Amino acid sequence: MVNMGVKILLVAFALIGAFVPVAFSLVATPESPEAAVTIESSAGTFVAKYPGAKSLNSVDCAGEYALKCADCRNIAVCAGEKAPLAIKSCSNFNPAKPYCVNGACSSTVAPDTGVCAAEFRCSSEGYFPHPNDCSKYYFCDKVNGNAYEYSCGENRVYLSRQKSCTNRTNETECETINCQDSPNSFVHYGPHLAYYAFCSSEAGRKETVVYKCPDEDTSEFDMETLSCVYRCPAEGRHFNPSSCASFYECYRSGLEYQAIRWSCPMGFHYNTLLQRCEPGPCQAA
Ligand SMILES: *[C@@H]1O[C@H](CO)[C@@H](O)[C@H](O)[C@H]1NC(C)=O
Ligand SMILES: *[C@@H]1O[C@H](CO)[C@@H](O)[C@H](O)[C@H]1NC(C)=O
Repeated sequence: MVNMGVKILLVAFALIGAFVPVAFSLVATPESPEAAVTIESSAGTFVAKYPGAKSLNSVDCAGEYALKCADCRNIAVCAGEKAPLAIKSCSNFNPAKPYCVNGACSSTVAPDTGVCAAEFRCSSEGYFPHPNDCSKYYFCDKVNGNAYEYSCGENRVYLSRQKSCTNRTNETECETINCQDSPNSFVHYGPHLAYYAFCSSEAGRKETVVYKCPDEDTSEFDMETLSCVYRCPAEGRHFNPSSCASFYECYRSGLEYQAIRWSCPMGFHYNTLLQRCEPGPCQAA
């Protein structure tokens, strides 16, 4: 099913690639085709799509031959039928004109709306919670890469620790990122402190960029130093996930743990079983 849909799209965009530059007097650079349809996963629960992609039936062309804005970032190519022939992101044609205003790509957002919701930016690879909707999450294939949006479904919520969805009950939290009170500053994502966001707010353009600490299980974002710091899971010595030639020693200090980072001597690595530095390269750990 999925392969079929993608094939149809490839054909659709091959056609569009030839048609749109003429209609727009814009030069389209070669690009990888973008999915404009919703892809159902085998589980049937999740719905994946590319950022900014709209399903073709989300725009009513009303039989016209025209270019129409599908939303503030995407433009639809109408060719005499109800559904458009294709929907493309304006930024694909010209990054300097990422917005759609009155059926044309523009460098500024429509004056009547003023704010255009940002597409999800991939700050790193992996899973990210949706900043405003606890029933959704993203998968990023690489830094600055494609973000695939997934939906947990109705009455379900995404759990960032488990990286899975669960039924929503009175006990489950619906975590989102609250940028309302923190313009142009960092905020944490709920109680999972390895996830944080920057709330950008400039001249009508609001954007929430979600980040995560490289090791999300053992680190958290520290608001004072604006960096990811190691978080002790318990007292004692612990393997350092970001460098096997070092370890953390955690001790209690009041109600909290303090961590001291120790480096092994040159040519040694930390052995988790023996809880000490042993000669040899990291692979031996
Ligand atoms: C979640 O909700 C669905 C639909 O209400 C139900 O069929 C399913 O058994 C529930 N799952 C769990 C783990 O409670
Ligand atoms: C939470 O509890 C209230 C009252 O006990 C109930 O009406 C409501 O449906 C519950 N919500 C969920 C999501 O379970």
